[in-house]
Amino acid sequence: MSFKILGTGSSLPSRAVSNEELSEFLDTSDEWISQRVGIRERRVCTTERTADLAHDAALKALDMSGVEPHELDLILCATVSADNSAPSLACSVQSMLGATCPAMDINAACSGFIYMLDTAAGFFARGKAGKALVIGAERLSRMLDWTDRGTAVIFGDGAGAMVLGPGDSYLASKLFARGNDTVLGIPNSDGASPYYENEPRHPFIFMNGQETFKFAVKAMSTDLEEVVEAAGLGIDDIAWIVPHQANARIIDSAVKKLGLDPERCLKNIERVGNTSAASVPILADELWRSGKLRDGDYIAMCSFGAGLTSAACIIRWEA
Ligand code: COA
Repeated sequence: MSFKILGTGSSLPSRAVSNEELSEFLDTSDEWISQRVGIRERRVCTTERTADLAHDAALKALDMSGVEPHELDLILCATVSADNSAPSLACSVQSMLGATCPAMDINAACSGFIYMLDTAAGFFARGKAGKALVIGAERLSRMLDWTDRGTAVIFGDGAGAMVLGPGDSYLASKLFARGNDTVLGIPNSDGASPYYENEPRHPFIFMNGQETFKFAVKAMSTDLEEVVEAAGLGIDDIAWIVPHQANARIIDSAVKKLGLDPERCLKNIERVGNTSAASVPILADELWRSGKLRDGDYIAMCSFGAGLTSAACIIRWEA
């Protein structure tokens, strides 16, 4: 027994920031960003906290599922940009919902949501959960160096959520990590200890774009191939691919490498940007609400990010 998806939800901050607006204070252009990355605008928090986005996405997922907060046995949040180091984002959401179940955060960077689905599958397999809420939520805008055109144009804020119940939809998964703290990361602030002798660090995202790009294309294509095989399927059996939205060219390269139909490989990066752990569940919510899903459709989700981590899974849609 694993789980089936009972409901999905997502939430974006109301403030949209276009490439043109970024060009007013960064040495960049709409042409460069849309051609090199595939983004035209992203959403950025003005008043919303990560917890507000997570809570809003959770309410929508609960509404679709018909599950009440008091019925939840588990809340998991994937995030690298929680409002607090403690309490966890999951505990903040639990309190906002009025739920009473165990709650914790998972950090596997952009791969966090799929790592978390796998964690939830373990709770279902052990009979420790009958209803679970899983959320990916990020406010990356507070971790950007807004003078760095290499990163400021790429990331956005948002949240996506799923409510899970018992079922057999989760067919196969792959989790991967290759520890590396130089290619892509977000340092914690070093604080103000009078005893600490190193140069203090700022909590800003740094990224070696080309190294990340190479890792991402390889991870996406290898993980999808392996997970499809592990589910006993062929790549042509997959109705929809829900990939992490980091760069449209990464998705296009993997599509080409695997010989996929580009129409089946979904994208919303143009409107949403890279929302890290929220990226896959936001896109999945768009798919769930699109009316395109048919009973028995196989859906592949895949992601990659800091760690370096990557993850993929296969889900069978059960109406
Ligand atoms: N606007 C205009 N020019 C920019 C720019 C921007 N926002 N960012 C970088 N450039 C410039 C560079 O300074 C460089 O200029 P130079 O040739 O004069 O030195 C030029 O564009 C090419 O830079 P490069 O880094 O080689 O570009 P790229 O084609 O690799 O694209 C990324 C850069 C970041 C878009 C790309 O590497 C990428 O998407 N990497 C993966 C990122 C990712 O997936 N991150 C998240 C993982 S979860």
